Amino acid sequence: MADAKETAEYIKLDLPVGLQQTEPVPAEKRLPADDITISLCDSNDASDIAAGLYEAFPAAFWDHKEPIALRPPEQATRQTRLANRLRAVFLNPKINWVKATLTTTGQIIGVAGWVAPGNPIHNHFRKSAVDFYGWREKLGWSDEEFEEMWKGVDLEAWDGTFSKDDETRKEVLGEEEHWYLAPLYTLPGFQGRGVGTRLLDWAFKQADATSPVTPCYLESAPTARAVYMHAGFVPVGNINFVRRGPRKVTEEEMQKVHAKVVDSEVRGVGKVV
Ligand SMILES: CC(C)(COP(=O)(O)OP(=O)(O)OC[C@H]1O[C@@H](n2cnc3c(N)ncnc32)[C@H](O)[C@@H]1OP(=O)(O)O)[C@@H](O)C(=O)NCCC(=O)NCCS
Repeated sequence: MADAKETAEYIKLDLPVGLQQTEPVPAEKRLPADDITISLCDSNDASDIAAGLYEAFPAAFWDHKEPIALRPPEQATRQTRLANRLRAVFLNPKINWVKATLTTTGQIIGVAGWVAPGNPIHNHFRKSAVDFYGWREKLGWSDEEFEEMWKGVDLEAWDGTFSKDDETRKEVLGEEEHWYLAPLYTLPGFQGRGVGTRLLDWAFKQADATSPVTPCYLESAPTARAVYMHAGFVPVGNINFVRRGPRKVTEEEMQKVHAKVVDSEVRGVGKVV
């Protein structure tokens, strides 16, 4: 059955030249609810998730974290390495990899990494997460196997960015339990058709069912901010957002998220603070 949802109220962002913001889903483009199945991934999906991350996240994001000069000649090697790194994360029951699949074919068209309340603040993408969460021992990786997965990654850019984000999250939320989103993507061919909303709703339903509602937290690429603000996220810093239940975005908030371009940090699709 087609979803009768009306087109969302337009959120306009003032993005730097060359960056394109997301657009509201027109009714005729929205995938009917039954065409998408939402379920939890398992570690067998790691390779598809790695491929999806490389496809959905823009070149600027990867060029910063996995610089071209460090890359192996074969993309398949890169994908295997990222998939192996992701496989460890499935050991943590609080980290939910939610997938949107096409009901007819089972193809994964979008993924959300939703970290449940009560998980410590330590981004699961960090190299340091492997020892922080004790995954290396559980998987019995040798040092050689472990280092192989991290070849091609600029660690300062990779762990450096995520650890800074963790510090900011601690400052914003302190001990407050919260849902944390990292990552969210829809394959380019399926963007703008309501898949992202379904992946976000998976956690919102649970977050909004508690009293008071449980906050949701994320760091956003500049281009994705309209999606998050439409979903009720409020900017708290330059890149980070908190949602405490659904709400309408204000004019002031729209002004606040205008992305600033600097050389110091690359996030998603541009250089922003
Ligand atoms: C960001 C991303 C995940 C969004 O996924 P998507 O499947 O295209 O999103 P949807 O089509 O479900 O749109 C999400 C919601 O935002 C709304 N929306 C999007 N742009 C909007 C705008 N400018 N104003 C108002 N609402 C807007 C849509 O209408 C939809 O809400 P609705 O279902 O209530 O109508 C996708 O563009 C992507 O993968 N980008 C590349 C990777 C990335 O940047 N990820 C985020 C990193 S932080």
